[in-house]
Amino acid sequence: MMITGTTRLAGIMGWPVTHSRSPLLHGFWLDETGVDGAYVPLPVRPQHIEQALRALPILGFRGCNLTIPHKQAALSVLDRVEPLARRIGAVNTIVVGPEGSLEGRNTDVFGFRENLREALPDWKPAAGPAVILGAGGAARAVVAALGDAGVTEVRVVNRTLVRAEAVASDLSMHNTRITIHPWDKVTTVQRDAGLLVNTTSLGMAGEPPLMIDLSPLPVAAPVVDIVYVPLETALLSAARRRGHAVVDGLGMLLHQGRPGFEAWFGAPVRVSGELRAAMLASLAPAR
Ligand code: ATR
Repeated sequence: MMITGTTRLAGIMGWPVTHSRSPLLHGFWLDETGVDGAYVPLPVRPQHIEQALRALPILGFRGCNLTIPHKQAALSVLDRVEPLARRIGAVNTIVVGPEGSLEGRNTDVFGFRENLREALPDWKPAAGPAVILGAGGAARAVVAALGDAGVTEVRVVNRTLVRAEAVASDLSMHNTRITIHPWDKVTTVQRDAGLLVNTTSLGMAGEPPLMIDLSPLPVAAPVVDIVYVPLETALLSAARRRGHAVVDGLGMLLHQGRPGFEAWFGAPVRVSGELRAAMLASLAPAR
């Protein structure tokens, strides 16, 4: 890769940012498409997010991704926030407009939806209520995606019930009923369900595993885990053993990057087997 005066620039702002896999993801697509572009990590302290965002157009950047801890804080700095990102309360993709304005988007909903479409082509929103474990930012994106897809009931199960209540009130939708359930109902709430999605951090490397009894869940209901380190969580292994279709978290991570790449660099990209393999190699836990 050769950087010149005409190279299109984008990056990811975070603090810390060294753990982010986004430079690898966008670097793969830049190589694959041959676009004259560069995507760099931008370590930005929380107190500097406004200055850093305002500097994007001045420095000639096309935009950036945001990661921890900037996804909520950026909302008040931007010139425009798409309605979906406003509903979810988080922005992960910034696009610099032609006049230097800053537009914020949330592409996690797109990432979840596209991954589901690709991994479970036969799943139908009418299959039954969807059970969502967790009520953080990731849960909000999943609830919005499932509501938009036409699921008529979403059951949000969370250890801290007030966070589930906030999801239900912030994301209220016309055709989707959001019901909330305490964590001690995590087994019974699965009855009649058509899909189960883990959005909690349980099962992630360094966190306790998610150990729940899946016996009430109809075998036809797929089980999705948005955790991607490790790829095969205890939840997915248990679901696989019981005969459920399972979907790991890597696909959502890769698909959520597509809208940003396409906006900044102007070339369509896809999630290929080669991309998955390259990302998997980088995700292997250090020995
Ligand atoms: P994100 O924005 O990535 O979704 P988050 O907002 O930190 O991250 O949300 C983490 C989710 O994992 C929350 O739903 C959290 O439950 P609480 O709202 O009760 O904190 C859930 N979680 C984390 N550790 C948990 C545990 N030990 N048992 C049950 N849920 C847990």
